[in-house]
Amino acid sequence: MQQFDRWADSYDRSILHFFLFKPSYLTLVTEIARWHSENPKPFSLLDVGCGTGELAGYLAHGPLPVTTVGLDYAANMCVSAAAKFTELEGSDRPQFINGDSEHLPFADGSFDMITCSNSFHHYPHQQNVVSEMMRLLSPGGRLIIIDGFRDCVVGWFVFDVVIAKVEGDVHHAPWPLMTKYFETAGLTGIRRRKFNFIFPACATIGDKPKGA
Ligand SMILES: C[S@@+](CC[C@H](N)C(=O)[O-])C[C@H]1O[C@@H](n2cnc3c(N)ncnc32)[C@H](O)[C@@H]1O
Repeated sequence: MQQFDRWADSYDRSILHFFLFKPSYLTLVTEIARWHSENPKPFSLLDVGCGTGELAGYLAHGPLPVTTVGLDYAANMCVSAAAKFTELEGSDRPQFINGDSEHLPFADGSFDMITCSNSFHHYPHQQNVVSEMMRLLSPGGRLIIIDGFRDCVVGWFVFDVVIAKVEGDVHHAPWPLMTKYFETAGLTGIRRRKFNFIFPACATIGDKPKGA
């Protein structure tokens, strides 16, 4: 994970920021707003693998009544993220926690929404992470995981060939496997939203049943 500690300072200026990360934040913001329009109340959100806290920034400066927590394995990412919000007070200020996606240090049902973008392919035990996210969701809550979409020729080349060579031990899960992770964890209404061409990406979306 040292690569991310080293990358924290220049991360927001990366070319990937323009081609992949920013479109991912915008997709998340749209989907979060959609969920909120169906559930119009103040809500809490956990962003797993939050990097430099860019999603938290869109939310903190937007209209939604959301309290955001970001969690990242790389301590320097958390430091860079927190530095962006020093002027905000109280629950408006996102919190950033250094931690591992597989052992999320929160009580059951702590969050109404959990997001994770461009981070999931780094997790060695992906089913465990989805199950852990499910544990943290409140009934009726929503999970959205965005990662590279490798189930097309462009995506296979970009993620399974190029990115895998650059990043080493990573696994961009094919969409049927993502569906299986969600189903096994007990999420329902599973669907996907593809976006981007050069770096094709996919949001997998699922809900914790209201009675669960
Ligand atoms: C490419 S960045 C994505 C950051 C941000 N979500 C985005 O879309 O720009 C991947 C992030 O995942 C984090 N990460 C990798 N493995 C992790 C783990 N097991 N638990 C938590 N974060 C992890 C890295 O430290 C890094 O900040």
